[in-house]
Amino acid sequence: MPAAHPQPLWQQRYGSADAPSAEPGNALIEQLLAHRSVRAYLDQPLPDGTLETLLAAAQSAATSSNLQAWSLLAVEDRQRKARLAALANDQAHIVQAPLFLVWLADFSRAARLAERHGRELQAVEYLDSLLVGGLDAALAAQNAVLAAEALGLGTVYIGALRNNLQAVIDELQLPPLVFPVFGLCVGYPDPSRPAAIKPRLPQSVVLHRETYRLDEQEPRRLDDYDRQVDAFYRAQGLENPPWSRQVIDRLASVDSLHGRERLAQVLHRQRLALR
Ligand SMILES: Cc1cc2nc3c(=O)[nH]c(=O)nc-3n(C[C@H](O)[C@H](O)[C@H](O)COP(=O)(O)O)c2cc1C
Repeated sequence: MPAAHPQPLWQQRYGSADAPSAEPGNALIEQLLAHRSVRAYLDQPLPDGTLETLLAAAQSAATSSNLQAWSLLAVEDRQRKARLAALANDQAHIVQAPLFLVWLADFSRAARLAERHGRELQAVEYLDSLLVGGLDAALAAQNAVLAAEALGLGTVYIGALRNNLQAVIDELQLPPLVFPVFGLCVGYPDPSRPAAIKPRLPQSVVLHRETYRLDEQEPRRLDDYDRQVDAFYRAQGLENPPWSRQVIDRLASVDSLHGRERLAQVLHRQRLALR
């Protein structure tokens, strides 16, 4: 995938202003820099063993206290994918992708283990455990994303799976102490609708050294970034609002949570994050 880019990868990732002179010169890092979310897939099945390969990559990620407090639910049934898509903002790529992975924070396995040993698990009710399970699931998922990209596949995360969380839990028949953190579409990218590398914020506004210090150039650099993302959208034929407005709109009102404002109640029903 990283081969044959019109511009050097650093330049695509940051724009010409911020690009250092040399490319990383490392195949894995080049693959990381070439990441893009894929929202158009071919109607082509995945080779046998792909799921197992992605899972092995995922399970190779670091995991907090080696708890391995996550599970993976693989959905290939078209009807089930369609029902999940309907619950996740009608995103067509969920149905189109041959494989839809649901990444679960999962303390139910530990609870079953404890029960066999006649013990209770008080710590799983605390917010930190939800973070641990969510972080474990995210690290695992990102490893699977990288493995998929290395195999020439494309992916896109589906956070909208939390929009109708209770319905998703019911559809997937998730027991207590299990929480779907997000979904992930996996499939062969449709070459007729290619995705491009989306520019990121300049390193200078993201990186702090030793202590958190505001860069007085931040407003100017964010305005520059807005212009850069505008140019990116135009090149993609997209008419999106500027990046800064997207950020503000996404966070300004509860409406933009699209149902996720009810997360705490659903989590409590799952016996998670009670305190
Ligand atoms: C946790 C998470 C949830 C996301 N949810 C969605 C989603 O529901 N639908 C979607 O199209 N993209 C989703 N994305 C993809 C982001 O929009 C995308 O990563 C971001 O715009 C940067 O683009 P890039 O991945 O192509 O670099 C999600 C990404 C993450 C990390």
